[in-house]
Amino acid sequence: MTARPQFHMTTSEVLYDRAKRVLPGGVSRNTVLRSPHPLYVEHAEGCRVTDIEGVERIDFANNMASLIHGHAHPMVTDAVAAQLRKGTGFTLATEVEVRYAEHLVDRSASFEKVRFVNSGTEAVMAALKAARAYTGRAKIAKVEGAYHGAYDYAEVSQTSTPANWGKDDSPVSVPVAYGTPPKALEDVVVIPFNDPAKARSILDRHRGEVACVLIDPLPHRVGLLPATSPFVQMLRDWTTRHDALLVFDEVITFRSEYGGAQEWYDVRPDVTAMGKIIGGGFPVGALAGRSEVMDVMNPLASDVRFPHSGTFSANPVTMTAGLTAMELFDRPAVHRVNALAERARNGIEEAIAESGVAACVSGGGSMLRLHMKPELPTNYREAFSSPEEKRRLGIMLDHLFDSGFIMINTCSLTTSTVMGEAEVDGLVEAMRDGFRKIARL
Ligand SMILES: Cc1ncc(COP(=O)(O)O)c(C=O)c1O
Repeated sequence: MTARPQFHMTTSEVLYDRAKRVLPGGVSRNTVLRSPHPLYVEHAEGCRVTDIEGVERIDFANNMASLIHGHAHPMVTDAVAAQLRKGTGFTLATEVEVRYAEHLVDRSASFEKVRFVNSGTEAVMAALKAARAYTGRAKIAKVEGAYHGAYDYAEVSQTSTPANWGKDDSPVSVPVAYGTPPKALEDVVVIPFNDPAKARSILDRHRGEVACVLIDPLPHRVGLLPATSPFVQMLRDWTTRHDALLVFDEVITFRSEYGGAQEWYDVRPDVTAMGKIIGGGFPVGALAGRSEVMDVMNPLASDVRFPHSGTFSANPVTMTAGLTAMELFDRPAVHRVNALAERARNGIEEAIAESGVAACVSGGGSMLRLHMKPELPTNYREAFSSPEEKRRLGIMLDHLFDSGFIMINTCSLTTSTVMGEAEVDGLVEAMRDGFRKIARL
């Protein structure tokens, strides 16, 4: 029997009570967990989200960086509504997937062919499997601390701690989930971020065995620090020399430039994994790259090296939403969201200097991240927060939330095309207050 809710409980408290009975921890994704309970959305429009208690907040989290035009953009909503009336998924192809693939291929010089999937996790998984199928090798290399979704291999060392990460010239392959197959750990080579010499020497120990090096050019969990050109160039040279592939994870960073953050470098990846904004608000993933590599999935080949399918892949709802959103996200729009993030960064840095709090800001494109550290970290180990830094970040996050601003839970933000300088300046002011509060601790 359901316990009778007490009269003083809020609607959210009652809902969370029910949720805990049927969902582990009361949530379907850990990122929405808040103390004492998650907030439940009533509706959202543009950059504003209203919860079921009637409180409106400005959204700088954008569903974990996946919304580039905020919520319920009328052009996306109208296009999707029209498609919904025509059907949502068929055991047949649709024109819109062809149009969308053509659009993406036009956005980046490294894209020749595209395959759509349903999430960033799936895009990274398919990219790694394509690399293995192409090279005939099992191992993959990745950066310590980098988040690439939930595939066993891609998640290795994502949550390493000082207690288990080992020496920095030979980082340990640390599992995320209990029961991860030891073979998966053995098949992942972990390299330090932005340290070409150490990374090359680790990779050299596995030459001839590595199918690909996987790199996020602005890895959020590593500290939201841009990969340096020498590091990316070294990875390109090393992979070319040793017949391995270079895979970019642009699930988040595709929002950084018209053709993704890869525009920052003089190198081209062989394959790029995407997700988030390219779904126009709907679940999505995609991998794109050189025809020769992508053709490991070609079902017309006499020997299909990587058979690949997915019931909801390229469903016309996601394709319609994604194509509409990305056509709207043209070069001027990219420039605008990046300029807003730059304005936020300048304002926050000024507020930090005024307050005297030990804090700094990292980021690039339309994202930034606050660190409660006196100086910018350079890699995952330096970005790792001490308990006191975590406590201070928590105070700032709660302060911002109470002041009406939703951030990503690492105290990172993403801008969108439906916000302007007023929203950014409002956030900066709230942060200024937050730093004052922290300075008084
Ligand atoms: C860089 C990166 N890769 C992959 C993923 C996984 O994407 P999804 O949550 O759509 O599975 C994420 C998600 O946050 C990500 O940030």
